[in-house]
Amino acid sequence: MNSRLNELDLLKTVDRDHVWHHLTPGAAASNGLPMFVRGKGLSLWDSEGNEYLDASAGGVWVTNVGYGRTEIADAVRDQLAELNFLAGSMGNKPAAAFAQKLLDKMPGLNRVYYSNSGSEANEKAFKMVRQIAHKHYEGKKYKILYRERDYHGTTIAALSATGQAERRAHFGPFVPGFVEVPHCMEYRNQYPEAADYGVKAAEAIEEVILREGAGTVGAMILEPITAGGGVITPPEGYWEKVREICDKYNVLLIMDEVVCGVGRTGKWFGYQHYGIQPDIVTMAKGVASGYAAISCTVTTERVYELLQEESGDTLGFFRDISTFGGCLAGAAAGLANMKIIEEEGLIENSRLMGERLLDGLRALQEKHSIIGDVRGKGLFAGIELVVDRDSKAPVDESVAIAIAGACKQRGVLIGRTNRSLEGFNNILNFSPALTATAEQIDHIVAVVDEAIASVSATL
Ligand SMILES: Cc1ncc(COP(=O)(O)O)c(C=O)c1O
Repeated sequence: MNSRLNELDLLKTVDRDHVWHHLTPGAAASNGLPMFVRGKGLSLWDSEGNEYLDASAGGVWVTNVGYGRTEIADAVRDQLAELNFLAGSMGNKPAAAFAQKLLDKMPGLNRVYYSNSGSEANEKAFKMVRQIAHKHYEGKKYKILYRERDYHGTTIAALSATGQAERRAHFGPFVPGFVEVPHCMEYRNQYPEAADYGVKAAEAIEEVILREGAGTVGAMILEPITAGGGVITPPEGYWEKVREICDKYNVLLIMDEVVCGVGRTGKWFGYQHYGIQPDIVTMAKGVASGYAAISCTVTTERVYELLQEESGDTLGFFRDISTFGGCLAGAAAGLANMKIIEEEGLIENSRLMGERLLDGLRALQEKHSIIGDVRGKGLFAGIELVVDRDSKAPVDESVAIAIAGACKQRGVLIGRTNRSLEGFNNILNFSPALTATAEQIDHIVAVVDEAIASVSATL
């Protein structure tokens, strides 16, 4: 027992002194961060034995089927023992089986390209668009539109496609050919005079296409529901119009489902709420719930065909590789993850418990004037904190930090916008595992209620 405690103490010291923590200023970690040692379902335990209810799916919308799933661990172990790795230029059983299972859920799409992070899945999509431009449009249709407030990843091209000023700050210069379009958050309506906000917000994209020249725009990448930019659900009519605009100007629609994909929003994929057909879909986090690293760039057969070798064009096929896209553990974990979602009815649970969570948060909105807006779909919710409901002035990020801290003190882990949007780091995020029960949802809401009350009292 003692030697175990000593080992933990030693590791905590090493963690404090030598691990460079993601998204964390050194000063915030200088006294050491809690070290988490075990998880089961929605519960996490730290090294001191404290139990937390994780309403953030591992902090960043990942652990869709919850912690401690030995059936996924077993599937990964069995696969690793049989065959662990093979470059993606060769065939293997789990990659084929997972592709089939995934495509069954995505009618209209037909090819799966494997890699191992959300950023990388988006990079693949960008490279496809660029190569299609070279092969079919004399290199001219190379621009990729992205939306204000959306996030597409950490690599330089993915960041070049990210509409969050604070996330981008100090990392430029960026990759040329990425162009921003306006956000579609109705709560902060930029077009109050417009009769139909959804259509107007989509038309704002069309204006950018016309300004840039439709012959130069190859694709747009959008999150079905913006995640880190503030849990932004699209307004009525938006997606139908966006698809129409893509068709009109021959622009490929890339859906970034890195957060929304695989059940988070109460359907297999976020875009399926809106009855539209994307050309490319990227996904990562919930694909294997964090039991192995896997991401996918899924395309239509048309996109695949546009990137084939033709006679005399030896460079004409998609000459791209992801070494660790050939780790068989990813697809094995993805298969086991999907089996759990199907067998336990977790898509339906996400929908039902999501409604319960949103109802609970809306009830808190009635009580706490600091809650300006409640948004979400399925087990993917956010609340926007304001100083005053009329002006909608956002609270300082210190308030969101304090409320998340007060929840943690009460044993519930929630997410929040983290130095992403200048002046608008005022959103709290909720994304419990899709297995969440009514009791757990009610507990999360009750704790948020208490946390907001305690912090509001100090303002
Ligand atoms: C919508 C979205 N796309 C892409 C990414 C990047 O994924 P990764 O961190 O796996 O590279 C993220 C990460 O948070 C995301 O939220």
